[in-house]
Amino acid sequence: MIKLEQLKLEGLTKINEATNSKTLQEVRVMYLGKKGPIQEVMKSMKELPVEERPAFGQEVNEVKQTLAEAIENKKIQIEEEEVNAKLEAEKIDITLEGIRPVIATLHPLTIVTQELEDLFIGLGYTIAEGPELTTDLYNFERANIPKDHPARDMQDTFYIDVENLLRTHTTAVQTLVLEENAPKLPVKLVCPGKVYRRDDDDATHSHQFQQMEALVVDENITLADLKGTLELMAKRMFGEEREIRFRPSFFPFTEPSVEVDVSCHMCGGKGCSTCKSTGWIEILGAGMVHPAVLEMAGYDATECSGFAFGVGIERIAMLKYGIDDIRHFYTNDVRFLKTFTRFE
Ligand code: PHE
Repeated sequence: MIKLEQLKLEGLTKINEATNSKTLQEVRVMYLGKKGPIQEVMKSMKELPVEERPAFGQEVNEVKQTLAEAIENKKIQIEEEEVNAKLEAEKIDITLEGIRPVIATLHPLTIVTQELEDLFIGLGYTIAEGPELTTDLYNFERANIPKDHPARDMQDTFYIDVENLLRTHTTAVQTLVLEENAPKLPVKLVCPGKVYRRDDDDATHSHQFQQMEALVVDENITLADLKGTLELMAKRMFGEEREIRFRPSFFPFTEPSVEVDVSCHMCGGKGCSTCKSTGWIEILGAGMVHPAVLEMAGYDATECSGFAFGVGIERIAMLKYGIDDIRHFYTNDVRFLKTFTRFE
């Protein structure tokens, strides 16, 4: 009996000291298994007088019961500790900033070009693209720019040779497409693309920039059609409240010619630094297609008329997004480019 009591205390101490399921299992095998010290004690029962055996057997069972319960309780405690330790080890700090996937964005010039293209496609225009390397004929001659016009000066144009040059405006595409279409009506197209001029690069000038020119030729096209179209474009690009105004101007390929201003989208026309306190911002040149341009392309200028306008994509993007230096568009600074998302 004394041995039994000792075994019980010993077992309870070992159970208490077990720190993980493995050592606890070892204690269980040792004390409750077939070959443990308690079984040993059981075997010695035969040596007891018969009348003492039941009490002894009961005592053995109680000790086993006590140890089994202690093991069970300890098991629950250890399992809980182990789960907690695991949770602690695998803890995820959800307040840490995640790793964002790199998503490319559209270049601001592409965004503006696409917005304009969408608008004009919606109005039934087709998009015409032509070669950047063109000829004196299509860039100047067919645009009614006579030989002595200042725009033909070597200062302004990148000549490849006497006849070939880098187009200085996308009007070079219009004269080409006009000739291809003649004498079919109507003509309704926009020409987006790069153009080149021998300017010194600074905050507002670049030797290469992008334009989009529109050309409409049909019977009875008037200045009112031009104005309505430009008003729609100004509102779409700069907001519904915008108004436009025409100022007389000169282009060899249009007659009459106008400079077009839009009411300032920054101050609403009150006057600010963007509009240089005038309330108006010059956005493009336009006019009624010169009859000579139509005739040279193969149209009968007494049967049809047309309007044309040409807008600088950089200029629109600078105004729209408040960009102060045209060189930002070309230097590929990712910090700048990242601010333009395609989901705007
Ligand atoms: N071609 C002119 C330019 O490059 C723009 C323009 C186009 C003006 C059509 C009037 C009509 O500046």
